[in-house]
Amino acid sequence: MNIKQQDPIGQAILDFTKSKKPFDIIVNADMCDDDIIPIETLFRSFEEMPPMEQDAMQLCRGKILDVGACAGPHSRYLSDSGFNVTAIDTSPGAILYLNEIGINAHQVDFFEFNPKEQFDTILMLMNGIGIAGTIDNIERTLEKAKSLLKPGGQLICDSSDVKFLYEEEDGSFWMNLNAAYYGEFKFKMNYKKIEGPWFNWLYIDYDKLHMAAKKCGFKSSKIADQDHHYLAHLILS
Ligand SMILES: C[S@@+](CC[C@H](N)C(=O)[O-])C[C@H]1O[C@@H](n2cnc3c(N)ncnc32)[C@H](O)[C@@H]1O
Repeated sequence: MNIKQQDPIGQAILDFTKSKKPFDIIVNADMCDDDIIPIETLFRSFEEMPPMEQDAMQLCRGKILDVGACAGPHSRYLSDSGFNVTAIDTSPGAILYLNEIGINAHQVDFFEFNPKEQFDTILMLMNGIGIAGTIDNIERTLEKAKSLLKPGGQLICDSSDVKFLYEEEDGSFWMNLNAAYYGEFKFKMNYKKIEGPWFNWLYIDYDKLHMAAKKCGFKSSKIADQDHHYLAHLILS
């Protein structure tokens, strides 16, 4: 893959580590306004992580798989704390950087990752369960996670209930919430003149995640909940 043409997030990581000049990553969305990911947030330290992510770090145990690790704030913290960590990401630039800093990292799509070993903990953070893309794909995503976990293993992930985006001042909703699932988005990343492809990303409310988790053999609980955003803890039962 030509990194410069197709890997905005990876190129942003590699540029920032060399130049330390902060250029934002712009995220285009189909259903809401464009957003910005300040590059420094991808390099956050434990102290700079939101409390929910700090909680997630405290729950980690055993062999850890960091899915969609990006610049690896969690992989780095956990490796430094003595854990055995494997990181995966589809971004070639992110993997190049993670290998440079000594993280065991592989450029592979989560759905195609077939390692010889299984893990005690899978992390999917920064709305990481969004990797499912669509609500129809959530069970396949949880089944894939299950296949990568040892018996009794755990999946720690976060997401948001984005219903509030469609709420009017009078409490009614301008979108028919029963038509399509309201948490399905399409995004595109841009960095300088480098444009990535459009991709599907899912924001799932906790009840829907809980139901799918139960169907797939996980016991789930909500660890924290703030401003529509929550941290979920799924344990294989
Ligand atoms: C929003 S970033 C999250 C970064 C990181 N977890 C953090 O908390 O800073 C999402 C990452 O997931 C990666 N990604 C998206 N789809 C993926 C897939 N199917 N398999 C592996 N990685 C994926 C992207 O390349 C990106 O680096």
